[in-house]
Amino acid sequence: MALRQDDKKFHTLLDNKWVGSKSGETVKIYSPDNQEVTGEIPALSQAEVDAAVAKTADVQPNWEALDGTERSELLHRWAQELEKMTDEIGDMIHKEVGKTLSAAKSEVKRTAQLIRHTAEEGLRTHGSFIQGDAFPGASKSTKAMVQKVPHGVVLAIAPFNYPVNLAASKIAPALITGNTVVFKPATQGAVSGLLMVEALVKAGLPEGVLNVVTGRGSVIGDFVVTHPKIDMITFTGGTATGQHIAKKASMIPVVLELGGKDPAIVLQDADLDKAAKEIVSGALSYSGQRCTAIKRVMVVNEVADELVAKVKERVAALKVGPSSDDADITPMIDQKSADFVVSLIDDAKQKGATVVHEGIQDQNLLGPTLLDNVTEDMEVAWEEQFGPVLPFIRISNELEAIDLERRNAYGLQASIFTKNLENAFTIADKLNVGTVQVNGKTSRGPDHFPFLGVKNSGQGVQGIGRSIDSMLRDKVLVLNL
Ligand code: G3P
Repeated sequence: MALRQDDKKFHTLLDNKWVGSKSGETVKIYSPDNQEVTGEIPALSQAEVDAAVAKTADVQPNWEALDGTERSELLHRWAQELEKMTDEIGDMIHKEVGKTLSAAKSEVKRTAQLIRHTAEEGLRTHGSFIQGDAFPGASKSTKAMVQKVPHGVVLAIAPFNYPVNLAASKIAPALITGNTVVFKPATQGAVSGLLMVEALVKAGLPEGVLNVVTGRGSVIGDFVVTHPKIDMITFTGGTATGQHIAKKASMIPVVLELGGKDPAIVLQDADLDKAAKEIVSGALSYSGQRCTAIKRVMVVNEVADELVAKVKERVAALKVGPSSDDADITPMIDQKSADFVVSLIDDAKQKGATVVHEGIQDQNLLGPTLLDNVTEDMEVAWEEQFGPVLPFIRISNELEAIDLERRNAYGLQASIFTKNLENAFTIADKLNVGTVQVNGKTSRGPDHFPFLGVKNSGQGVQGIGRSIDSMLRDKVLVLNL
């Protein structure tokens, strides 16, 4: 059988066979643009997930035993097959998660580049050799050889907003290091993820090295996270789900990339045109549905009016509409997410925020809303909106920005806009976040940079090299000569 059952129904991949669920049950995926069914994927049972995990565990030793160069060559072929499918996968991303076609195709191209880089970087993992006599009382004849070995079976859980890139950013490092993979895509984006896997099958994926478990989170979510044959979990998604996984998954390493409340801190000497451009792009691309989106602006009073005016001018020029119209601001992933954003706007308005620009509200299509004079009693100052609303908090100086940032539950990234780099470094030192961007928007790329969040924004480190490291553990061989 093939991946496609018909133009709407899709199989999942178990042991290199495209199959439906034994029950015939499916989960429907609805387009954010028009709420029509864009696809149906199998709703697997716990027994089917159990068999899938068991198989990846059975074949893992053989996969690990392969030469690294052979695993690397598979990834290079995967990248080639993925690029050949750019139009097909890009179109599916566009339909499933409401990205514009151009942004969706860019995601596929970026993913092929990530896979190639991983295929090379993954060949350069080295252990170490330690002399015993470096420690008092230990002899020269005691020596340690520290190898880097795979964990075993990696559970890779991807989010809706990058259904291909943030899946491959987990799968590729896992495979190159000799782990096998159980891939759990987000429901919205699952077909895009399955098409990405189809490219991997075309590239020569050995049977059982990667299995895809699709279905209802309520049925298989905890089951797969707590499965005894899962040896490591890597997850990108909302903070609440990440925290739940961390609690459930005991005694295995867990890497989490979660939510954020990334500030753009704008100081008096900032280039306000550049800051406005970066803020609009950073806050509103993909309608703000990015964990690294700029989610609040902290601007010193002296330049606040000018900055707000510049941002407003840019926002007013943005096209709002369905992703099929290549709009700048497109429908949010679902109504529940849109309703949450509206609740934050209403709360801020009731508490006295100044509405600088109010976006339309048409079901899950929200135009961008700019709120000025946001104060700490307003929820939008602290909650992750994950949508097209941007609060401006006016501050007296950078110390206030540092205090606001440190009291925030999240710690993903922060942007500082200033011409004084020494001042930027001084502020950066005091921010409790994973990454500080100087004179640029908050963002994950380029994909080989370390990428991490602290506090409620995650644990562990991603980014190609660091993701590879996270898929390996030490194994020490002590020679007593
Ligand atoms: O939301 C996921 C996060 O990884 C966003 O990535 O590349 O848009 O900064 P990026």
